[in-house]
Amino acid sequence: MSSYIIEGGKKLQGETFVSGSKNASLPIMAASVLNRGITKLYNVPNIHDTQMMIEILKSLGCKVKKNQNKVVIDSSNISKFEIPEHLMRQMRSSVIFAGAILGRYGKVIFSYPGGCDIGSRPIDLHLKGFEKLGVTINKSFGKIICETEEIKPTEISLDFPSVGATENIMLASILAKGTTKIINAAMEPEIIDLQNFLNKMGAKIQGAGSNIITIQGVSRLKDVSYNIMPDRIEAGTLLVATAITGGEIKLKKVNINHIIPIIDKLIESGCKIQLREHEIDIKAPKRLKAVDIKTMPYPGFPTDMQSIIAAMLCIANGTSVIVENIFENRYKYLTELQKMGAKVKIEGKTAIIKGCKKLYGTKVQATDLRGGASLLLAGLAAKGTTNVENIEYILRGYENLNDKLNNLGAEIYLIKS
Ligand code: EPZ
Repeated sequence: MSSYIIEGGKKLQGETFVSGSKNASLPIMAASVLNRGITKLYNVPNIHDTQMMIEILKSLGCKVKKNQNKVVIDSSNISKFEIPEHLMRQMRSSVIFAGAILGRYGKVIFSYPGGCDIGSRPIDLHLKGFEKLGVTINKSFGKIICETEEIKPTEISLDFPSVGATENIMLASILAKGTTKIINAAMEPEIIDLQNFLNKMGAKIQGAGSNIITIQGVSRLKDVSYNIMPDRIEAGTLLVATAITGGEIKLKKVNINHIIPIIDKLIESGCKIQLREHEIDIKAPKRLKAVDIKTMPYPGFPTDMQSIIAAMLCIANGTSVIVENIFENRYKYLTELQKMGAKVKIEGKTAIIKGCKKLYGTKVQATDLRGGASLLLAGLAAKGTTNVENIEYILRGYENLNDKLNNLGAEIYLIKS
């Protein structure tokens, strides 16, 4: 596994930009199987997870051409409706293909997506939604076989506003004969991007961004071109990287409306922030102030930013309390931060961080995507050299993050192994 060697203590300065959203790209790429035609996507981040989606599209029989951040998908001749097990296992979010393939073909076979280091990641809400849509579900030898003569439009109330379950139910009901309603739907901006994409493809969906989404089934879909929204978690990561290093940057190509809770917490911690249309200027204070964090479904503070802001709070003045309300095991990275000198106590879903003046470089291990990003940011601020191992996790979700940070004055070396 590869690693980053980081020489800490450099203040980030200059300007950079936000790439396309990983979590908007994945469902939109899966949705391209619905139109049995040509889908042109722009601003797709060039990362491991989008490459995996391309592999799955090709395994289903699609023709896919990628040129940097442009992906062209021809789904005219899909010949299979089974998601290959080895690809499912590598990326749990490939479960998003289930709704799209079901919506088009009425049958899909996939294996249980692997859990990962942030929790068990069940898919019970996805499967309950499919059953409510009239889909029969059989499980054998770790495979899940879903099939139906036709999708039956209905009203589905989600026990929890699951992002993936909301997306899968939307995709499965696009071509149904009638109207489906999702109650207690997830309200994340990526759901709005998916609705905008699908409506451009000829679907009739309303309500994304609210907790009630209505999908009026259509009989035909058409070729579509679409520009993916900016990645709000990458935006937050670059802002926190500036805060933790005491730097000052301009961040471009950002959708400010998607990151209000993150901006509010950075201001509360003492950062000076100026907002303009699609641009943010941030200047860090001499010493950051401790702040409390509670992760919540959107529009609350995003769980994906929990580990990232925690790195910053390790060197803030005072004690911060974090409550992780979304995933049951999203504190593994804290053990690694403790090796760098962080003063942290975990009590159930609460982490108490006593800010100290300095972190110290050492060898640490990434265990998941956002936990890995947290360790990278801690290394930027730490005294001395930090070696973050298993950075393949980070490469899954960030496009050229080390290059972007080095262009702002960081000193990060990628050691491939
Ligand atoms: C999406 O995951 C994101 N991934 C995650 O980002 C993000 O953390 C999460 O939403 C929450 O915002 C993508 O969009 C590809 P959920 P998803 O279904 O859809 C429980 C990142 O770092 N749940 O909203 O898997 C689940 O266990 C990734 O970019 C069920 O119990 O999240 C969790 O506790 C990490 N049953 C909670 O709901 C289900 O059937 C939220 O899960 C589904 C979910």
